[in-house]
Amino acid sequence: MRTPFVVGNWKMNLDRAGSEALARGVAAKSAGIKGVNVGICPPFPYLLTVHAQLAGSSVQLGVQNLYCEAKGAFTGEVSPAMALDCGCTWAILGHSERRLVIGENDALINKKVKTALAAGLKVILCIGETLEQRQANKTEAVVEAQLTGSLEGITADPAKLVLAYEPVWAIGTGVVATPDQAEAVHLFIRKWLSKRYSAAISEQMIIQYGGSVNPGNAATLMAQPNVDGLLVGGASLKADDFAAIVASAQPVKT
Ligand code: PGA
Repeated sequence: MRTPFVVGNWKMNLDRAGSEALARGVAAKSAGIKGVNVGICPPFPYLLTVHAQLAGSSVQLGVQNLYCEAKGAFTGEVSPAMALDCGCTWAILGHSERRLVIGENDALINKKVKTALAAGLKVILCIGETLEQRQANKTEAVVEAQLTGSLEGITADPAKLVLAYEPVWAIGTGVVATPDQAEAVHLFIRKWLSKRYSAAISEQMIIQYGGSVNPGNAATLMAQPNVDGLLVGGASLKADDFAAIVASAQPVKT
């Protein structure tokens, strides 16, 4: 019922030529893979050129961040309308690197989600605990607080909102969550969605896992009943690796 959704988050990597080549590679290699929705999120300066490489492809384009206002005097920021104008359909918001490195909090992320949805973009909202929080048995409390804060006042539409559980300790570290660890938090999120919204919304919502996903671990993560997709950083920078991850997300579940 939930179509697997695999997204590459290129972060602050590549140059223009590299972005074009990677986009072409992703488009070509994912063309034959059925039953998986695929997206890529390049750096802002390469959106237009990457969009041009995706002509005729079903690979969807997204941004890694956006500002929380529609327009105006916000030097250096990018609006949802600009992202749409560059061919984007998705925005990653609340990524832990934005939360922890740049200092974004749930209130700001909530405003960003509202502004992006109001403009007509779809949102991948990231949540996840640090190692310290996990070791203190606070994973569920942290995830719940992030969900509550980031989604305050938002009517969750599973066609327009995707959640990405990304334990901070697994991002870029090579330490992937075990399938059981991922599944436990995904199930917790699904139950939270059911309480906060409805059973139907909870059932339909895509919940991605992110954090050191690679071609070797993608299939076992995707085999978990509540893991519906993957948000891939480092391994999305190589077309072959990313294509292998997309292929592992092909539905085998009934
Ligand atoms: P990683 O990053 O795959 O390099 O761990 C994932 C992410 O931050 O989205």
